[in-house]
Amino acid sequence: MTILITGGAGFIGANFVLDWLAQSEETVVNLDKLTYAGNMNNLITVQEDPRHIFIRGDIADQGLMTQLLEIHQPRAVIHFAAESHVDRSIAGPREFVMTNIVGTFNLLEACRLAKLTKDFRFIHVSTDEVYGSLDYAEPAFTERHPYQPNSPYSASKAASDHLVRAYYHTYHLPLITTNCSNNYGPYQYTEKLIPNIIHCALLNKPLPILGHGKNIRDWLYVSDHCAAIMQVLNKGELGQTYNIGGGNEKPNIEVVNTVCELLDEIEPRIDGKSYKNQISYIADRPGHDLRYAINADKIKKQLGWQPQETFATGIRKTVNWYLNNRNGLNL
Ligand SMILES: NC(=O)c1ccc[n+]([C@@H]2O[C@H](COP(=O)([O-])OP(=O)(O)OC[C@H]3O[C@@H](n4cnc5c(N)ncnc54)[C@H](O)[C@@H]3O)[C@@H](O)[C@H]2O)c1
Repeated sequence: MTILITGGAGFIGANFVLDWLAQSEETVVNLDKLTYAGNMNNLITVQEDPRHIFIRGDIADQGLMTQLLEIHQPRAVIHFAAESHVDRSIAGPREFVMTNIVGTFNLLEACRLAKLTKDFRFIHVSTDEVYGSLDYAEPAFTERHPYQPNSPYSASKAASDHLVRAYYHTYHLPLITTNCSNNYGPYQYTEKLIPNIIHCALLNKPLPILGHGKNIRDWLYVSDHCAAIMQVLNKGELGQTYNIGGGNEKPNIEVVNTVCELLDEIEPRIDGKSYKNQISYIADRPGHDLRYAINADKIKKQLGWQPQETFATGIRKTVNWYLNNRNGLNL
């Protein structure tokens, strides 16, 4: 049997491919455009593995997607491919519309028109950012929270979620959507907070923190996200959405302080001072959402998923991984 992954050379997709091949004999067809965010080095350990078939291509190429569905007859599509960085979506929203909306649309169309295998399912991987921003005291997002996206990134992901919903209701395509909080772990591109902080710290550069540093994100170790997606693939109910989160709400400044403390312990600065001395507050992002928080009760109760890592264990693993894999930091 075979599964088809989109965006499997990116951060979460690559972790998913590696975790999958470590525990399954099933072949993975991995379709990725290799934008700046896709990196074949993430997949170096499986490049000779006959169970991994990599194809460079665009999800917006409906002909190619149709061909892949016909040739490989996957029992599932797991759709990770996206433009994913909020700041880039503010600087240039077009690619976000083209990949996240038009690309997802073309992929759904290819599936709608294909002869799919019995028990086929399509997992659409989305984000908690579609729900908008919470105040500090508001309850965490449930699956019933209204969609209130605030950035071109979250708006484009919200649009793709709506298309997925419509294709389930209108065409009965076997679809499930997951909305996950901020991920961290190995193989993340250095533009994102945690690898960027480690990268700057080791180069003795300022550690940039947007605005007041009190924006809260709910952090989940990437393998826990991948395990949740596998659980949704195995047991999720068609047409449903599942929120995924680690219950680790942290202000950005606390995340940066924790990374600095780990670096102080594992690779201290030559002058013996803390890396915290490099922290530097910079101009805030326009429309910066204050807080995201996920209520993951549904997936825990209905599908029996639980994260394995606490923030303390996951962030230690992550810092150690980047220190041992400096090419992952472009160092
Ligand atoms: N990173 C997070 O914290 C997080 C949290 C929740 C949900 N998500 C979602 O998970 C998915 C993966 O996120 P990520 O952080 O791994 O992203 P990423 O930016 O690291 O990787 C995206 C991958 O998609 C590929 N890609 C981009 N456009 C493509 C196209 N048109 N056709 C084919 N491939 C294309 C890129 O080359 C890259 O390999 C995204 O859909 C994102 O919205 C991410």
